[in-house]
Formats: sequence, structure tokens, C-alpha cells
Amino acid sequence: MKALVLSGGAGTRLRPITHTSAKQLVPVANTPVLFYGLKAIADAGVTEVGIIVGDTAAEIREAVGDGSAFGLDITYIPQAAPLGLAHAVLIARDYLGDEDFVMYLGDNFIVGGITDLVERFRAERPAAQIMLTKVADPTSFGVAVLDGDGRVVGLEEKPAKPKSDLALVGVYLFTPAIHEAVRAVKPSGRGELEITDAIQWLIDDGRDVHSTTISGYWKDTGNVTDMLEVNRLVLETVEPVVEGSVDEESELIGRVRVEAGARITGSRIVGPAIIGRDCVVKGAYVGPFTAIADHCRIEDCEIEYSIVLSGSSLTGVRRIEASLIGHDVEVTPAPRSPSSHRLVLGDHSKVQISS
Ligand code: G1P
Repeated sequence: MKALVLSGGAGTRLRPITHTSAKQLVPVANTPVLFYGLKAIADAGVTEVGIIVGDTAAEIREAVGDGSAFGLDITYIPQAAPLGLAHAVLIARDYLGDEDFVMYLGDNFIVGGITDLVERFRAERPAAQIMLTKVADPTSFGVAVLDGDGRVVGLEEKPAKPKSDLALVGVYLFTPAIHEAVRAVKPSGRGELEITDAIQWLIDDGRDVHSTTISGYWKDTGNVTDMLEVNRLVLETVEPVVEGSVDEESELIGRVRVEAGARITGSRIVGPAIIGRDCVVKGAYVGPFTAIADHCRIEDCEIEYSIVLSGSSLTGVRRIEASLIGHDVEVTPAPRSPSSHRLVLGDHSKVQISS
């Protein structure tokens, strides 16, 4: 079995907090979301992985390399334009050969990995096996309708009036039967060859399509609450380890990961939390569910339930909560008199000020 990982798509800035233009590299607990997918594939015993890349190919290649860090053998497959998930399968035809494969959308996050799913597929070998999850707004997903026995009877891509709240999660298992289906479908209203339509083609052709419904699914929608929540979930599983230095005046409580080169002095860190490489944390309180990325400075501050991306510095401010702070941001106190806020905020920023 092989894997096909989709990391293409147009290079659009998702939101002001990230410099990366690849949505697959948005960090969750200091690690790009794509890496969790690659690890899940490796854990499921699949080692040959084709990664479909588009506009952001250079960023993806730089982050993932040859895959040896994940125990994977990676082949990059360029997609000239984002023409759809079924198009990605079309162009990967030679790479995939006649093997079964798992297709994994690189911006999807599945809590608990995919090992059970892959094992079920290996045992049953339907033409396709899909994963579903209940979502609040199914209109931005593929949506499935099941019959009374839980069989998939219909699929629709981003319907205006969804017939159920079961969204297609971006992990699919296929036998080579899918190749005929992706050749048969026509572009959708958004001009893409939809994998949803290809799976519907299999159903219409009388092939078996199995489904599993999961919870613990996340996809970046640019929503800060969701981002903090997935960060929280992943931090709960972090292995506590201290690779940096922690002085005697400091206290680490619970699951705290201090990465190489980080220096913690006179601070209290209550896990689960991660302090990235080469950070300086001085005279600070870092509370639960906080991920501080590499090269940050947190000094004379209190921060909790927040994400700070690399290169940022927070000095003399308290207390920061439920916040998402981008790369190379500086947060400092305003002069006490006159009492005022001084803000330099990027486009689409959101600030809540206690006053
Ligand atoms: C794609 C699929 C959709 C699926 C979603 C999951 O949507 O077309 O059916 O529910 O991934 O991430 P897209 O990312 O192209 O909007």
C-alpha cells in the first residue's frame, strides 16, 4: 500500500498570523499540521508516500525533505494547477501503479491517527473507505448521506442545503478502482475534479463504499477558538522533557516540554505546555495549554492558553489568555501616563483590550 498526501493548493495567506503560505504548515503545538499526517501514515505501516505539491512546493519540500525524519520514502509530484482532489489522483497514476492507497489531505488533523482505519480497509478491501465526522456547518465540506444500515448512499460536494451533518474527512482509502472513477467524472461548478464525485461514481457503479464516523477531527478554518482547542488536545499528549536549561528558581509542573537551547529562569511553567528551541523565559508565568514556538522571549509576563509563533517577544505584560500571536511580534507595556494603548496591528487582526 502507498500513500498520496495532498499538499498543493493555491498559496494564499490564510490569516495574518502566519508567514507560511502553505496551509499544510500551520503549526499545532509547535509542529506543522502536515507532520502529524505523515507520522500517522508511518504509524499505519505505510512508507512509500507521494506528496502532491503546487504553488507552495518549495516551502513543503524545505519542511519535509526526503522524508527520512519520518521513516518515509517521499516522492514529490507537482500539480501545475489546483484542479481538484480527483485530478491529483489522475496525475499520480504512474506513481500509484496498481496498489491500494490512502489519500490524506495535508491540512486535516485526525486525533488518534489512522492505523485502525487502514487495518479495517486491509481486512475488508471495499473499492473506497471514507471517514466522516459531524460538523456544525457542512456547507464547506463534502457531505454524506447514510441509509439505515450505515451504508453510504449519496455524497455531495459543498451543498448549499446539506442533507446531513456528516462531513467527509480528508482521509480516503482506495483500491485501484478509483482510477476508472477519476477518469469518468467531469469538473464541478468550481471547476475542479472532485474526489466526492468520483466516490459517488463508484457507488452508482455498484461498488462497495464503506464509512467510519469519527470524532477528534480538525481542519484550520482560520478560527482562533478552533486553533486553541486543537493545540490544547495535542499538548495533552506531549511527552515532558527538558532539553534546555531550567534554573533553581524556576518550577515546572505537569507536562512541560522545554526544547534544546531554551533558557528558563525565575519562572513558573504549568503544563501542558511547550517552550520552543532557543526561547528565553525569564521571571514569567506560563500556564496550561500554551505553545511558545522557537526563538521567543517571554519576560516578566503571564500567559496562558495561548499560541505564540516564532521570533516573538512579550515583555512586561499580564495577563495574556486565549490569544494567538504571530511571528516576530513584539508586545510591551504602554507608558503609564497618559493611560493609552499603542497598537500596530496587521490586516484582519482582532484585539480585545481590558479597560
Ligand atoms: C476537500 C473535499 C471535501 C472534504 C474536505 C475535507 O475540500 O473536497 O469533500 O470534506 O476536503 O478537508 P476542499 O479542501 O477542497 O475545500
